[in-house]
Amino acid sequence: MERIGFVGLGRMGQIMAGRLLEVGFPLVLYNRTATKADHLVAQGAVRADSPASLAEQTDIVFTILTDDHAVEQVFLGDQGLLSASIRGKLFVEMSTIRTKTIHTLCPHVEQRGARLLDAPVSGTLEPARHGQLLILAGGAAADLERARPALDILGRRIFHMGDNGTGTTMKLVLNMPMAIFWAGLAEAMAIGQQFGIDKKQMLDVYLDSPVALPALRGKAPTILGEVNEVAFAVTGVRKDLLAMVATGQDVGVPNSTGAAALSLFAAATAAGYGEHDLAFLLEYVMDMAQKTFPMKSDET
Ligand SMILES: NC(=O)c1ccc[n+]([C@@H]2O[C@H](COP(=O)([O-])OP(=O)(O)OC[C@H]3O[C@@H](n4cnc5c(N)ncnc54)[C@H](OP(=O)(O)O)[C@@H]3O)[C@@H](O)[C@H]2O)c1
Repeated sequence: MERIGFVGLGRMGQIMAGRLLEVGFPLVLYNRTATKADHLVAQGAVRADSPASLAEQTDIVFTILTDDHAVEQVFLGDQGLLSASIRGKLFVEMSTIRTKTIHTLCPHVEQRGARLLDAPVSGTLEPARHGQLLILAGGAAADLERARPALDILGRRIFHMGDNGTGTTMKLVLNMPMAIFWAGLAEAMAIGQQFGIDKKQMLDVYLDSPVALPALRGKAPTILGEVNEVAFAVTGVRKDLLAMVATGQDVGVPNSTGAAALSLFAAATAAGYGEHDLAFLLEYVMDMAQKTFPMKSDET
């Protein structure tokens, strides 16, 4: 059995690495904040003290990290994955990042005799817990086949989109309408609220109409304050939108709707909502509207 390395034990990484460990893959872990590996180490995983040391000890290395900068640091930094002896190894990069970053990494990996597959995922914490992610892969078919036994534990379906970068591109293409939907929903519901319509009632109407994306049903408890888990943070969507806008502009797509949504998510992050679940974008827009244009009922 190939030895698996896993770098990035954030919200998604902890769950995904945990699933691989549960089914019996020998697992070596690295996370910048070492304590996040503790519970998996207690269950039998091995802790590496740097990405380079992890790469030395494993055959297939999965990474799921915040953004392009984190991926560049983990691959190319001092003690990074590519500073190890990596001939014959396969790197499976699962973060949501710019297509350009994958295209930049590829020659670095291949020059050292290793392989890269981009395989970002669609689905959040709950699908990850149940191995129900959608995996969007870009790279050689043989590399995908090599990673498949582990990917099958993480996802319910693997789409092979094409060459390196196409998995990452598909992830951006998939999530862009979703991010724009959340921005539009936040502004629409803030208008409703300004006219005194109850949030719960608005959601009731949305959820009984074809207007709502299926994802809204899962988020409704968070919007109504019944669930506190941060599945995907406001600043995470901001980061995704930055990647979408930059990647669109790299290929001549102005991405004006993405840019508008980005402004809203960036403003919410700057206003202190960044670490809240993305459903809090609604709170941000509603609060801003109430403060700048108080409803009549609020006026004395
Ligand atoms: N959450 C979701 O629902 C979801 C769904 C699909 C895809 N994704 C994508 O999956 C990726 C991870 O998301 P997440 O929600 O798991 O994020 P997260 O909880 O913020 O975790 C981010 C991970 O990246 C590491 N990291 C950040 N900067 C680093 C650096 N400079 N060097 C080394 N490690 C660094 C963090 O290490 P520390 O622990 O030391 O901070 C942590 O392990 C993102 O690209 C996201 O867009 C997320």
